[in-house]
Amino acid sequence: ATAFRIADLAARQDEVVRIAEKRAIDRQHAKGKLTARERIGLLLDPGSFVELDQFARHRCAEFGMDANRPYGDGVVTGHGTVDGRQICVFSQDFSVFGGSMGEASGEKVLKVMDLAMSIGCPVVGINDSGGARIQEGVVSLAYYAELGRRNAHASGVIPQISMIMGPCAGGAVYAPAITDFTVMVEETSHMFVTGPDVVRAVTGERVTAQELGGAVVQSEIAGNAHHRAADEEDAIEWVQTLLAYLPANNLELPPEYADDTEAVVTPADLALDRLVPDSPNQTYDMAELVAALVDDGEYTEVHSAFAPNMICAFGRVQGRTVGVVANQPRHQAGVLDIDASEKAARFVRFCDAFGIPLLTLADVPGYLPGTDQERGGIIRRGAKLIYAYSEATVPKVTVVVRKAYGGGYAVMGSKHLGADVTMAWPTAEIAVMGAEGAVQVLHRRELAELPPQRRAAVHRRLTEEYRERHGGPYLAAERGYIDQVVTPSQTRLQVARALRTLRTKRQTLPAKKHGNIPL
Ligand code: COA
Repeated sequence: ATAFRIADLAARQDEVVRIAEKRAIDRQHAKGKLTARERIGLLLDPGSFVELDQFARHRCAEFGMDANRPYGDGVVTGHGTVDGRQICVFSQDFSVFGGSMGEASGEKVLKVMDLAMSIGCPVVGINDSGGARIQEGVVSLAYYAELGRRNAHASGVIPQISMIMGPCAGGAVYAPAITDFTVMVEETSHMFVTGPDVVRAVTGERVTAQELGGAVVQSEIAGNAHHRAADEEDAIEWVQTLLAYLPANNLELPPEYADDTEAVVTPADLALDRLVPDSPNQTYDMAELVAALVDDGEYTEVHSAFAPNMICAFGRVQGRTVGVVANQPRHQAGVLDIDASEKAARFVRFCDAFGIPLLTLADVPGYLPGTDQERGGIIRRGAKLIYAYSEATVPKVTVVVRKAYGGGYAVMGSKHLGADVTMAWPTAEIAVMGAEGAVQVLHRRELAELPPQRRAAVHRRLTEEYRERHGGPYLAAERGYIDQVVTPSQTRLQVARALRTLRTKRQTLPAKKHGNIPL
């Protein structure tokens, strides 16, 4: 009888895995998508996957559902390792009821979330689903809300990553939105609260799923996706790379790698002495500085296509993860706008929650003026960045590279928001505004009274004088707002030393239930 039972188990497992998978492959590959199991297989270390609840089945009898009760119920869940480190995973199977969430599949997802929380490991959710299972009605909606609640409670405790590998619509979008990072795949994935049919019925607007919520829109315009992958393999690789920077949970340190960086000034360091152009209106690529400061020049950007005037990236300094926040003068002169502020604020909060030190590189002309920004709520939305920096208790190191004007100076990781170590390059211009603008305001009347032919020359001289006196890093250094004025080529070594010094930093904020960040 034992032999029979073992054979029976094998037959059932064959049904769940091999037979179902054959059908799934046919359906998914025809749409240019991998199956739920193939995705897990690529994400996890080979042979490490332990599946849970493979025999779970729905209990619905409506709409003839009792005649169709496939094992697994449209989602594959379990745990395994990525680069030897534990994660939990769920992967919706579009080939079974459109990957829709019902009672049984919902229970499976909640269970694996609860496991991730109790053992303290990251959770990756792979989404490919028609949404709430229509046949099961309100029960499926309950599971979306239950999942959202778990995502909220897990926020700041374990890293949560969402991969959108197909449709993700309606209530289903909100769970990924709460997670820390969302990845989408070009062409084959989309996200929206209401789909093209509903949009057309309600507003008359004709729009395709890709135009409404494809990977391009979500990664460049809406900012709901932190990475747009060319294909599923690319998406999975990005998640693996990301995980390597992150701790398993908020009580652990990120993984540490061997430090084989040069402890002397290198030719790459020396190149930094020529990075900032002579003219303040000329641009340069801040990415070059990021690459020069992190180990092996390697870093991973999040939200690279969204608000490109701000760079947010994970890298390592002496083998340890840092979160880099940097203005990008190449895009809109590195100005702070709503999108850049929210992008950076969320990144800063993620790093703070998971004990990742912050390295800020400032070159910012200020906040973006205009009715769009003001009406869009830049006051409250821009304030998030001040809030996030002030609240962050992880080590904070800031380098002012060039411009740090006005509110931009204050907000980009300044001493006043609690930066532990502030450095400035000799090229730094720390001031209320640029010299030209300042002279316009300070000497407006005097300039207006001059004969027009002399005006330009006087304006030039006053600008030069202002720049000499107020434009550099030394007034700020005089007051201790800047701890060190450093030669660009020394920056990598000084940043590494600062981060090393700050490793034992401990800071606690006043006890409270929680703050009230402007949302
Ligand atoms: N509940 C139950 N079954 C669903 C489902 C849902 N929410 N969404 C899709 N399915 C089923 C389909 O009935 C179909 O089943 P079949 O293979 O037995 O015919 C299967 O999943 C595949 O769906 P299909 O419509 O053929 O795939 P598609 O790629 O052409 O379209 C969607 C994908 C998501 C656009 C489409 O399925 C859809 O609009 N689904 C409903 C979305 C919705 O309104 N959800 C509820 C609110 S959150």
